[in-house]
Amino acid sequence: MVNKASRPTDSLIGHDAWNIQLDKNGQLKHFLTVEGLSTELLTNILDTAESFANINEQRVKKVPLLRGKTIANLFFEASTRTRNTFELAAKRLSADVLNVNISTSATSKGETLMDTLQNLQAMQCDMFVVRHNASGAAHYIANRVAPGISVINAGDGSHAHPTQAMLDMFTIRRNKGHDFGRLRVAIVGDVLHSRVARSQIHALNILNTGNVRVIAPKTLIPAGIDDMGVEVFNNMEEGIRDADVVIMLRLQKERMQGALLPSEQEYFQMYGLTEKRLSLAKADAIVMHPGPINRGVEIESSVADGSQSVILEQVTNGISVRMAVMSMVLGRESETSEGEQA
Ligand code: NCD
Repeated sequence: MVNKASRPTDSLIGHDAWNIQLDKNGQLKHFLTVEGLSTELLTNILDTAESFANINEQRVKKVPLLRGKTIANLFFEASTRTRNTFELAAKRLSADVLNVNISTSATSKGETLMDTLQNLQAMQCDMFVVRHNASGAAHYIANRVAPGISVINAGDGSHAHPTQAMLDMFTIRRNKGHDFGRLRVAIVGDVLHSRVARSQIHALNILNTGNVRVIAPKTLIPAGIDDMGVEVFNNMEEGIRDADVVIMLRLQKERMQGALLPSEQEYFQMYGLTEKRLSLAKADAIVMHPGPINRGVEIESSVADGSQSVILEQVTNGISVRMAVMSMVLGRESETSEGEQA
């Protein structure tokens, strides 16, 4: 289902990639993809995030859960929301945080990814949070780190972005209640290149969402989408009708090879979320976007800033969800009791 241009090779991800993220007790050891995880585990992440949301609203936004743990943020690709909310989440759990600046690190002098990681392992890091433009990078690293070190995927190429999907599920649940079975969710835009959309579709399916729709021009729909349990629309007006949740995606021009689109203006004409189009969804529909938003390209400013938009709420929720994932991974029983084998 990953587009050909950035299809991860088997050697990077493997046939049963998602299995490596669970320890022998079925608990999350790494968080690489939502794919293959149980409804129970995803619900557990959301419930844990709920308890952290309360902490984040207090005057002292800190708990000692990960005191003494060291978390390294390794972002080989640009990021604003994801990197900063991972850092805040780690700090609110009292972990020590290393933000490795790739552009000024030895990577720019030709050091390989694995050499960089081995050096960070020598500094006794407990967790790597990794964003990389190669699909499969997080799996590649998780397969090679020393036993006891956990890897969180903060976005790999066009493959997966599991914490973004979970913060989106959390935002949906907080606004629409716990019963995903009642919901119609429309995901609009550059699905082909979107790791966010792929992870959202897996998460929505695992949480038994009533109807998941994908709306995009034919050139931005990935091959194999039909096997993902979604309804595909090329017409925005038809696809958005009666939706409870409308998720907009950015046009990922940095991943596009060749001319997949006429022009941004024409794209906005056909697929941009305007107030008029939003009126076709349910009256209480919420509007989401993982950011960064391109005003006037995929979304009209008045909608992005309007009363139905929960775009900034998604950012706030990112902290609670990332606290939940990091505390679940580093707070496992086997993590504290034994030098568990990978
Ligand atoms: C997304 C990403 O990087 O995949 N943004 C994010 O993490 N908040 C989506 C995007 O870049 O369009």
